[in-house]
Amino acid sequence: MDELRQANGDSGSLDGLRATLLNLDGKTPLANRFRALFHLKSLGSEGNKQAIDIIAEGFKDPSELLKHELAYVLGQTKQLHAINPLVETLKNREQQAMVRHEAAEALGAIGDDSVLSILEDYYKNDPLEVIRQTCELAIERIKWEHSQAKNTEDLETSAFSSIDPAPPLPKDQQQVAKLRALLNNQEEPLFQRYRAMFRLRDIGTLEAVEALASGFDDSSALFRHEIAYVFGQLCDPASVPALIKVLNNEKEESMVRHEAAEALGSIATDEVLPVLSKFAKDNETVVRQSAEVALDMYEFENSDQVDYTLIPTQ
Ligand SMILES: [Fe+2]
Ligand SMILES: [Fe+2]
Repeated sequence: MDELRQANGDSGSLDGLRATLLNLDGKTPLANRFRALFHLKSLGSEGNKQAIDIIAEGFKDPSELLKHELAYVLGQTKQLHAINPLVETLKNREQQAMVRHEAAEALGAIGDDSVLSILEDYYKNDPLEVIRQTCELAIERIKWEHSQAKNTEDLETSAFSSIDPAPPLPKDQQQVAKLRALLNNQEEPLFQRYRAMFRLRDIGTLEAVEALASGFDDSSALFRHEIAYVFGQLCDPASVPALIKVLNNEKEESMVRHEAAEALGSIATDEVLPVLSKFAKDNETVVRQSAEVALDMYEFENSDQVDYTLIPTQ
């Protein structure tokens, strides 16, 4: 603990967090910037607008990985104050696709129906499939959030604190084989298939993990990256071989490989460490940086540090 600065010390003040997040000294390790971000996230979630503004300032950074995480975090705060910077990010074609994707998804997570028309526009007109599909999901999620179904459906209380791109299917849907069939059925709306995905996550048995892994064969990169994300939440060692396979496949989209690296970082079994060390040298920046952050998380999981948001001294 003594090698960590206390949260309310210099690095814990808003100015300190801003300096770390935005790399004002030009030599802040990315892993520390992530830790600062998660601290800002908890402040933002409590309604601290300044924390949200600081996070949004980071969209000027070159790191695709960092920026997509900024967007994710802004969505998770559920604050209406985060809508503007997210809409700007979605609209900005100069931002990388993964960053714009995460911005659209975050708008879905916030769930305010004022953004429906913007999402409709990008759902219909964006040249990139990953953006169109993300907008499709975000639209459906917002509609669901404002629907009768939300109040009448009996959903499993999630073990995960995240706001997901789709709610799980109701509790009475518990046959893994059926859910697996829905997950992989390209004729079904994407939103329904995502609902099956999150239901399988909540079931969480070995059979459910295997069903989820079958989703890595899907033609949509967005879909495959979400499977990797869910595995990162589940932290089941049974998903490790499938995740390593994804990471090893250099033809796989970087967005999917990145998510696999992060998932391996949160699973943090001993077999994972050499894999991550190898990919911390990957040619693809976003994969390399994901492995770097994942290694930091691995060290955290295997240490006696109690709070991930405390920033180690350099
Ligand atoms: Fe994503
Ligand atoms: Fe991601």
